[in-house]
Amino acid sequence: MLPRTLLTVAVNESNVVLTGFMATGKSTVGRLLADRRGMLFLDTDEMIVERHGSIAEIFATQGETSFREMERDIASELEGTTDLVIATGGRMMLDRGCAAALGLNGRVFCLTASISEIRRRYLNDEGGAVRPLLADSDETALEQLYRERSAAYSRFQQVDTDGRTITEVVEHIETLLSRG
Ligand code: S3P
Repeated sequence: MLPRTLLTVAVNESNVVLTGFMATGKSTVGRLLADRRGMLFLDTDEMIVERHGSIAEIFATQGETSFREMERDIASELEGTTDLVIATGGRMMLDRGCAAALGLNGRVFCLTASISEIRRRYLNDEGGAVRPLLADSDETALEQLYRERSAAYSRFQQVDTDGRTITEVVEHIETLLSRG
């Protein structure tokens, strides 16, 4: 029998990278997917929080540009890793450098949801992530950001989450993975 590390590499080969707009479920889906496939789970927002403090605080004191640099640092660190499920911050994969680094050895899926569903999930996410870009935004600002980004997200393989449970989304990704 192969040692577990080799066996895992032989089965999975690459990372699974989840992108998509805020509140599309990347972290929740990623955690369950990793669990089911015996892969390690990483959340880039969590990595940044562990190193630098809360995202709200980073945006407020150092600015968004510094936050984006932190994302780039993490993307470089993760380049060349295998067998990870990586949930990325909502804009991370829209950065060319991050997308190149994480896409090199990762199968990328973009979780999508309608704007009303995003709003609903965000409002219900009480104990969840604080999202400075949504915190003060009204319907129009949210819609504008959503529209601005949709073309950029569309280049990744789309996984619609509307009307699907977390488990159904994970199963759908597993089906796509099994098709190669
Ligand atoms: C951001 C998304 C957030 C977090 C930060 C900025 C964005 O991650 O990285 O608040 O610009 O889309 P989630 O998508 O996990 O909320």
